[in-house]
Amino acid sequence: MKRLTVPAIQRRKAGGRTEQPLVMLTAYTARQAQILDPHCDMLLVGDSLGQVIYGLPSTLPVTLDMMIAHGAAVVRGSYHSVVLVDMPFGSYEASPQQAFASASRVMAETGCAGVKLEGGAAMAETIAFLSQRGIPVMAHIGLTPQAVNALGGYGARGKSREEHDKIVSDARAVAQAGAFGMVLEGVMEEIAVTVTDSVDVPVIGIGASAHCDGQVLVAEDMLGMFERVPRFVKRYENIAETIGNAAAQYAADVRNRHFPTEDQVYRPKK
Ligand code: KIV
Ligand code: NA
Repeated sequence: MKRLTVPAIQRRKAGGRTEQPLVMLTAYTARQAQILDPHCDMLLVGDSLGQVIYGLPSTLPVTLDMMIAHGAAVVRGSYHSVVLVDMPFGSYEASPQQAFASASRVMAETGCAGVKLEGGAAMAETIAFLSQRGIPVMAHIGLTPQAVNALGGYGARGKSREEHDKIVSDARAVAQAGAFGMVLEGVMEEIAVTVTDSVDVPVIGIGASAHCDGQVLVAEDMLGMFERVPRFVKRYENIAETIGNAAAQYAADVRNRHFPTEDQVYRPKK
């Protein structure tokens, strides 16, 4: 299977609405990428890995080296999807030059197809700088988790007219700057409709209704790895229970000397 490309993803919205919504999931490891890859158009190595696999309290402590290590693993484990890697907090906001230095490391050291960064109009100059220099950029607007301290929490955005207008103008600004697409997170449905209709690049929603050009979820959320998930998550499995049950059976087998058995033991051939 030939790998999809960023221009192929962008073309899916050429001249209007995306016919079939784009499918994106997060992946952090090679084996997880391998399993999810055939079903997706894009795999996102999200900085959500901070909470999901490192037990950090937010995405803020995630480092460029962490993103590069996991990005490279996901590229190695996938063959079909466009792999995008999140730029972590502190690695790109200071200037377009800082962003290029960080993003070019991500591109060179992981082999991914592009990067994602948080921010709207304030990041337009940086988005233009990177995209004009060969680095495809997906923007991330609406609820931007790296700004949790400024936003005051992870609640849905766009409840006031002011916020609504700000998010719509952010969408236009990042598209204008050359972003090949954008994630729109945690917003009122009305905003998703306006944003999706106002830009000619794909809008990938998370907690942003069915009006977007595609959807993304954190894989562990939709797999049921966590007891508590945001309202916008649909759970397709309960792997926390599956893993817990397997561990319980293994523990019981070891304690009762039911494992290992004949089948798992090395003996000299007779
Ligand atoms: O880090 C992440 O997983 C993300 C997606 C939820 C969009 O940015
Ligand atoms: Na992210």
